[in-house]
Amino acid sequence: MANTYKDTLFLSLIFSFFLFNSAVSETEILLQFKNSIEDPMNILSSWSNETTIHHCNWTGISCTNEAPFVVSSLTLQSLNLSGKISASICNLPNITHVNLADNVFNQPIPLLISQCSSLETLNLSNNLIWGTIPEQISQFKLMKVLDLGRNHIQGKIPESIGSLKQIEVLNLGSNLISGSVPLVFGNFTELVILDLSHNPFLVSEIPLTIGEMGKLEQILLQSSGFYGELPENFFEGLKGLSILDLSQNNLTGVIPKIESFLPNLVSFDVSQNKLSGSFPNGICEAKGLVSLSLHNNFFNGTIPNDSTNKCANLERFEVQNNGFNGNFPSLLWSLPRVKLIRAENNRLNGEIPDSISEATQLEQVQIDNNSFTGKFPQGIGKLKNLYRFSASLNGLYAELPPNFCDSPVMSIINLSHNYFSGKIPEVKKCRKLVSLALADNNFVGEIPESLSDLPVLTYLDLSHNNLTGSIPLELEKLKLALFNVSFNKLSGRVPSSLVFGLPASFLQGNPDLCGSGLPRPCLEDNKSMNKPSGFAKLTFALVFVALAFAMLVFAFGFYLIRSHKKKMELGSWRSVFFYPLRVTEHDLIMAMDDEKTFKGNGGNFGRVYIVKLPSGELVAVKKILTLASQSSKALKNEVKTLAKIRHKNIAKILGFCYCDESMFLIYEYLPKGSLGDLIGAPEFDMPWSVRLKIAIGIARGLAYLHKDYVPRLLHRNLKSNNVLLDDDFQPKLVDFALDRIIGENVFQSRVTLESSSSCYLAPEYGYTKKATEQNDTYSFGVILLELLTGRRAQQQNEPSVDVVKWVRRKINITNGPLEVLDPKVSSPPPSKEQMLGALQVALCCTSVSQQKRPSMSQVLHSLELL
Ligand SMILES: *[C@@H]1O[C@H](CO)[C@@H](O)[C@H](O)[C@H]1NC(C)=O
Ligand SMILES: *[C@@H]1O[C@H](CO)[C@@H](O)[C@H](O)[C@H]1NC(C)=O
Ligand SMILES: *[C@@H]1O[C@H](CO)[C@@H](O)[C@H](O)[C@H]1NC(C)=O
Ligand SMILES: *[C@@H]1O[C@H](CO)[C@@H](O)[C@H](O)[C@H]1NC(C)=O
Ligand SMILES: *[C@@H]1O[C@H](CO)[C@@H](O)[C@H](O)[C@H]1NC(C)=O
Ligand SMILES: *[C@@H]1O[C@H](CO)[C@@H](O)[C@H](O)[C@H]1NC(C)=O
Ligand SMILES: *[C@@H]1O[C@H](CO)[C@@H](O)[C@H](O)[C@H]1NC(C)=O
Ligand SMILES: *[C@@H]1O[C@H](CO)[C@@H](O)[C@H](O)[C@H]1NC(C)=O
Ligand SMILES: *[C@@H]1O[C@H](CO)[C@@H](O)[C@H](O)[C@H]1NC(C)=O
Ligand SMILES: *[C@@H]1O[C@H](CO)[C@@H](O)[C@H](O)[C@H]1NC(C)=O
Ligand SMILES: *[C@@H]1O[C@H](CO)[C@@H](O)[C@H](O)[C@H]1NC(C)=O
Repeated sequence: MANTYKDTLFLSLIFSFFLFNSAVSETEILLQFKNSIEDPMNILSSWSNETTIHHCNWTGISCTNEAPFVVSSLTLQSLNLSGKISASICNLPNITHVNLADNVFNQPIPLLISQCSSLETLNLSNNLIWGTIPEQISQFKLMKVLDLGRNHIQGKIPESIGSLKQIEVLNLGSNLISGSVPLVFGNFTELVILDLSHNPFLVSEIPLTIGEMGKLEQILLQSSGFYGELPENFFEGLKGLSILDLSQNNLTGVIPKIESFLPNLVSFDVSQNKLSGSFPNGICEAKGLVSLSLHNNFFNGTIPNDSTNKCANLERFEVQNNGFNGNFPSLLWSLPRVKLIRAENNRLNGEIPDSISEATQLEQVQIDNNSFTGKFPQGIGKLKNLYRFSASLNGLYAELPPNFCDSPVMSIINLSHNYFSGKIPEVKKCRKLVSLALADNNFVGEIPESLSDLPVLTYLDLSHNNLTGSIPLELEKLKLALFNVSFNKLSGRVPSSLVFGLPASFLQGNPDLCGSGLPRPCLEDNKSMNKPSGFAKLTFALVFVALAFAMLVFAFGFYLIRSHKKKMELGSWRSVFFYPLRVTEHDLIMAMDDEKTFKGNGGNFGRVYIVKLPSGELVAVKKILTLASQSSKALKNEVKTLAKIRHKNIAKILGFCYCDESMFLIYEYLPKGSLGDLIGAPEFDMPWSVRLKIAIGIARGLAYLHKDYVPRLLHRNLKSNNVLLDDDFQPKLVDFALDRIIGENVFQSRVTLESSSSCYLAPEYGYTKKATEQNDTYSFGVILLELLTGRRAQQQNEPSVDVVKWVRRKINITNGPLEVLDPKVSSPPPSKEQMLGALQVALCCTSVSQQKRPSMSQVLHSLELL
């Protein structure tokens, strides 16, 4: 079916090609091309047969330099163009470059363009191109640059792609390509840039021949489905390698020897795989190396001392979450360009030298959970760009130098769980400090009052030290989210806002603290009330004025902090897209902050928002509270599993976006909204044929989840609000299998919260808590009853009589089932029979006894036979 369609399309395209091939002027060809383009911004207004401007001077057209001037390239990028890319373009005999990137063309790969005998560059990146890569791709014989990145291209890469012998740049990144990379990639001897990144459905080994493609400069395979070991000769032939990104795949084994010198290497990223073995020796022979990322693998052994001193251009060094041990190369600390050093969660030791002051570009240091020793280097105080220094869980000791927080951009300091001693120095310069954690050290003396002058300080953890004195009253000025001074030797009155006004304040383990809300009331409380005087009245008036002023200042500060916090919240979001969505987390969160996007009632697990993306596409977004029940890795894997479902009755998951507490699942947008909302609308009136189609669709989707998809899934939260309808009333299920995403326990507690009220849940669920296929069958039966009766499952005015009870009562009392059918459905004979048949199915599905309920494939079969 699909093939015949493709063939016809292809033939008709060829046909049109010959039609146009008669000698027509280039002007006419271009006008023909313009004809099928939608141009909302009227960019192509200069393209006209009524103008005196030569067509070589039209927008986006370039011609050959000499007479006869003929069109050589067409560049219409970022113009919001849509419509159809017309074949007529191929009639321009000398055209070599076509760039239509960053538009909104929504069509299959335009095959006919392969007939453009002279075409060398085709850039269609960042459009809405869909469908598979056709075999005919082999006709792009002269193609040097083919960029189809950031589209919606599906299916396997055809073997015939091997005919593109001249190809220099091949970009298929950020698509939905599946299967494995064909061997013919070895034929691309001219290839310079290969981009297959962000294709979550690829399942492939790295092509063995990759090391023989001697001209390769950029290999971008990150975040796709590559597994297995790197070919042994990987680095032997790639003398020109400049950027290697293999991160976020499933690669195993060791990094092949880098014997040859890689003079152009700039970036080396193999992070987030399952690689093991030792630090890639010789990597710093590449003197131009700017970024080295090995993090989140199983590397072990030492980081060679001498290898890193040559990396004079290094800006990013990331080896965190591995098993590295031994001495951390001290020269790394003073590299002149280094911005980021991350080595947390290893077993590294050594001292941070004072020469760190030479690393003037340093922005971020994270070396938590290692065995570093020595003092906090004075040199850190001289760095002007450092905004994070995090070295908790190490063996650092001695006093903090007074300049420890002198960087004007310092935002996060974490020195918890070390052996620092002495007083905590006053802090003055780091006006941007948000978080200060000094817990579990041996600090003595008082809490520095200057902390209260830091306008955005939000997290303060000084617990488990030996601090004395009282808690500075001025701390009340701050808008703290966490204040922990537990287990010190503090005394005196606790400012009441620190006790009552804070979401998290920890004061225990300080027996001498007093104040309301604490076990010990303060003694002076009564005394101070007893001596009013004239002088006191005057002071009172002055204090009042001062207070009013302070409140103003406070309100302003609060405003600053709020806006700051908002930014921080955005910062902690991560997103994973299975579909080239042109949207950032920021866009999503902003759009969802906006109440207008609210759509419908999302049921148990939050609301569904309709969000309009910058490309104009709409998506449905569902917020779920995850309560950090799963690790983000587990979360990603689960959502990936669900996102792989391809069924016409299951809404596609396009991606998700998460932080610690919640996540947003992004589903495809369905214009008709939820079935629940439709049935609930007062004017609900739908022919039986459509209702039956919806019921069959839902049954098909469920049967697929239950029997055909691997792993087998249960929906567990089926209700008419979780059935969305497309333009054609084809139903699609959303909100399925959330238990897998948020974890069984959290899921259970959510369901229990609502179970008393939800009439979609099978009665036995209330006591067994066991998820079964029969539970889903029951929920389906309820929806089928809604469709048959035209009543919502739960009526607002009589909540105790749900549709199941209502139907059973009617059928028992009155003279027949006809009474329950929606009177708005006009029922000519076939409909009525079908409706009565469907009612029988619905009654079986909602039968009280689990064993009597049919499987969803049986249900589907019965409905299809009606
Ligand atoms: C320009 O083209 C339009 C149709 O595309 C046609 O109707 C019109 O007559 C043409 N004008 C001239 C001057 O050729
Ligand atoms: C395009 O315009 C420039 C000046 O605007 C002119 O010199 C040139 O001749 C024009 N090209 C053609 C092919 O008419
Ligand atoms: C792009 O075109 C769409 C309609 O095709 C329009 O709604 C949107 O506003 C346009 N965007 C820009 C930036 O012109
Ligand atoms: C255009 O291409 C033809 C062959 O397709 C060639 O003969 C001709 O010289 C080219 N013209 C220019 C100006 O390059
Ligand atoms: C294709 O066009 C886009 C947008 O202009 C650009 O970013 C990209 O680099 C181009 N691709 C190639 C291979 O030049
Ligand atoms: C790839 O190259 C080999 C020889 O180098 C050739 O036999 C084969 O046909 C080529 N593959 C394609 C698809 O062109
Ligand atoms: C990685 O590979 C292992 C087996 O080699 C497989 O079980 C696992 O699902 C893969 N993970 C991903 C994310 O592809
Ligand atoms: C590194 O880990 C491998 C196993 O992955 C182990 O065989 C080897 O002994 C370890 N080497 C060192 C130096 O710890
Ligand atoms: C590492 O090299 C530096 C400078 O070359 C040297 O001072 C230091 O002692 C070396 N450390 C080890 C453990 O070899
Ligand atoms: C510290 O790192 C080790 C691995 O070196 C890891 O097993 C452990 O969980 C980490 N501890 C913390 C608190 O992150
Ligand atoms: C606090 O100081 C006492 C001695 O003054 C010492 O015994 C104790 O270990 C110290 N506690 C901490 C957490 O440093």
